[in-house]
Amino acid sequence: MRTLGIGLVGAGTMGAYFHGPKYSRMRSTKLRAVYDVNEKAAKATAQRLNAKKVYSRIEDLLRDPEIDAVDICVPTPWHGELTMESAEAGKHVLCEKPIALDLKTADQMIGATRKANVRFMVAHVLRFDPAYAATKEVIDSGEIGEPLLALAARHSQLNPRISWYADEESTGGVAIDMHIHDLDYFNWIFGGPLEVASKRSRSVEEGWDHISSLLTYRHGTCFAEGSWWWREANLPFSSRLSLLCQRGGVEVDVRASFADPDCPMEEDVWVYRTGKNARLLKLARKDGYSKEIEYFVNCVKNDEEPSICKPEDARLALQLALATRQSAETQTTVNPDQVS
Ligand SMILES: NC(=O)c1ccc[n+]([C@@H]2O[C@H](COP(=O)([O-])OP(=O)(O)OC[C@H]3O[C@@H](n4cnc5c(N)ncnc54)[C@H](O)[C@@H]3O)[C@@H](O)[C@H]2O)c1
Repeated sequence: MRTLGIGLVGAGTMGAYFHGPKYSRMRSTKLRAVYDVNEKAAKATAQRLNAKKVYSRIEDLLRDPEIDAVDICVPTPWHGELTMESAEAGKHVLCEKPIALDLKTADQMIGATRKANVRFMVAHVLRFDPAYAATKEVIDSGEIGEPLLALAARHSQLNPRISWYADEESTGGVAIDMHIHDLDYFNWIFGGPLEVASKRSRSVEEGWDHISSLLTYRHGTCFAEGSWWWREANLPFSSRLSLLCQRGGVEVDVRASFADPDCPMEEDVWVYRTGKNARLLKLARKDGYSKEIEYFVNCVKNDEEPSICKPEDARLALQLALATRQSAETQTTVNPDQVS
């Protein structure tokens, strides 16, 4: 296949700084065009990333024969419509997480991309993040036995300058926007959960910006907490994971790094095994966004399903995130299968 032509949809934080630049650096892709409702942002990003075309209407981008795939990095309420329109135009789609805000839209997106026979992947970056992907490889190798328990935490500052993040209707709240990363990771390791019990709380800011969830899987118990609540404290992004397995465990520690622009996170993974010395994994230096984008591009080029991160996985992650939010709101235990 010739060089894959990419249309970047959304020139905000994720589009302009985390996704767009990867296509400009890869030899197998060419960033052809940028579209954003904010034309100024689209122009600035196109100029910085050497994309020749700027569109102010999605219809025009989707009519462009030089564009094979779109990368959707817009606020979550627009994921559904833009994915479906792109699929109908025959473009392959990489869409930022979460897949959507509700399951009906998620199902329509999956249906539309299947019907159009285009590749569709939702960018659940932990499946590609060096630390989390390496942890999954350790589990899959069987060297420390079956996973039994997991504990995850994820803390991030909410950017108060970006207004849509302050609107729970647009983000789905901390459960759907933040917590979903760890919920998806748990599903990857443990399968689908049987029930969930969550609590939410408020920080000094307005809104429910912290959630903690106890999840029961058929073969494991998990606990996760996610928060946006440290804006004022100015703490960097961090995430942690502890996994206890039959013959050992894994500890993951991730912090935002301000020292190395090529490697925006500092990540450590320790593996513990019964009767053996602990070992610190040597991790790939490439960040998870680069790896997820390379993977998506390869799936398109090789005409393969994105089996590491299927659309149905993104739907299941959304279903579980909705279940945690419902559990926190109603203060009851919720069976995710009964969330619609
Ligand atoms: N995977 C991750 O780690 C991660 C991190 C942050 C955000 N996200 C997700 O990425 C998505 C984008 O978030 P962001 O932080 O880049 O937001 P952002 O506000 O920084 O950027 C969004 C851009 O989309 C544009 N836009 C808004 N509505 C549009 C529309 N209908 N059509 C075209 N352009 C439109 C805005 O003008 C803006 O430039 C969200 O779904 C968010 O949940 C993922």
